Amino acid sequence: MKKVYVALAVDFIHPGHLNIISVARELGDVTIGLLTDKAIASYKRLPILTYEQRKTIVENIKGVKEVVPQETAEYTKNLKRIKPDYIVHGDNWRSGILKEIRENVISTIAEWGGELIEPAFTPGFSAREINKSLLEVGTTADIRRGRLNRLLNAKKLVRVLEAHNGLSALVVEKTQVKENEVVREFDGLWISSLTDSTAKGKPDIELVDFTSRLNTINEILEVTVKPLIIDGDTGGRPEHFSYMVRTFERLGVSAVIIEDKKGPKKNSLFGTDVRQTRASIEEFTQKIKIGKKAQVTDDFMIIARIESLILKTGMDDALKRAEAYINAGADGIMIHSKSREPDEILEFCRKYSEFDRRVPLVVVPTTYNRITEEELLENEVNLLIYANHLLRSAYPAMVKTAESILKNHRSFEAGDLCMPIKDIITLIPGGE
Ligand code: SPV
Ligand code: MG
Repeated sequence: MKKVYVALAVDFIHPGHLNIISVARELGDVTIGLLTDKAIASYKRLPILTYEQRKTIVENIKGVKEVVPQETAEYTKNLKRIKPDYIVHGDNWRSGILKEIRENVISTIAEWGGELIEPAFTPGFSAREINKSLLEVGTTADIRRGRLNRLLNAKKLVRVLEAHNGLSALVVEKTQVKENEVVREFDGLWISSLTDSTAKGKPDIELVDFTSRLNTINEILEVTVKPLIIDGDTGGRPEHFSYMVRTFERLGVSAVIIEDKKGPKKNSLFGTDVRQTRASIEEFTQKIKIGKKAQVTDDFMIIARIESLILKTGMDDALKRAEAYINAGADGIMIHSKSREPDEILEFCRKYSEFDRRVPLVVVPTTYNRITEEELLENEVNLLIYANHLLRSAYPAMVKTAESILKNHRSFEAGDLCMPIKDIITLIPGGE
């Protein structure tokens, strides 16, 4: 029998996939190279189903002899090992993002006389179309909760943006730009205490109560499918923190970040200009342990936020606390800084890389905002939070419009500052 190789991502099996496989099985024994989460995340959105779930589906398709992991979007490694006689792929990859991969496939299989077979693409069943309808279908708490963990395993750097209500959350969910054929988008949402409070006209001092914060979270959960990371402030009293953890878990939130200060805390970006009370290592590790003990699911994450650089207690204190928090069970470490330069953060990153036990590292480059994602990646940062930018950009735009109306005694001049009426009434579908 001839050997036939088909690489698939398959989040949802559709007739297009079955067509490819039926063409392949006419040619010989079919091996499916099933793309791992890592391989898929390198060029598009992480699939809904895990690798194991996708494998179960694919190995039960008629004509599939074997399923092997394909660890990269590139085929070369698997092809050199398997040396198939045929590769089958829909003809839609002749242009676009997979074009280069196709060319590499052709030159690799030429080494042993392999042949590429390209059945006509089945229209109406592209992963892109299915992903578009995903937002309409929604998600479940279980699927959503586990996605942050999966993203951290699949991607070198996870990129998250702040949202403070349903509308800003839709901006995070849907905004995409194309760069060299690769779609760039945000991987998840950060529910900031600063912007949640500010949007309600309140100071960021743990004044907006838990019920009110839950309303914001619910509003955002309702209109998005991407994972949510909640700014849990100090986590509240230790005996309350266990309830916070369970509530977030139940809702499908992926992670809570708590900071090692005592409440009511003040915003970190004040630094030492205001009085801030620090939690001792003992107090904070105790809180982490309480949270971990309360946790019901495996995939929820409690991330410990270190305020040593903000409060100027030094690098050694930051590192000592990181080690203690990891030992207490923290699933991630966030190191914060309000310096305009990234030097102290990068020093922390370097020293953190040498830790024996390392958990994902989170940073919030609000003040040191010249640093690029590429530089953070090089310094082994795993999760990057753009913590307040949607609210900060919305507010000046609103003030400008309000001033224009006051100055001109009418709204005509403000028209250019506003989106057209037609656009606003159709922005959210379903209003007709
Ligand atoms: C927030 O976004 O509320 C944060 C980050 O906690 S910071 O405002 O920088 O403290
Ligand atoms: Mg905060």
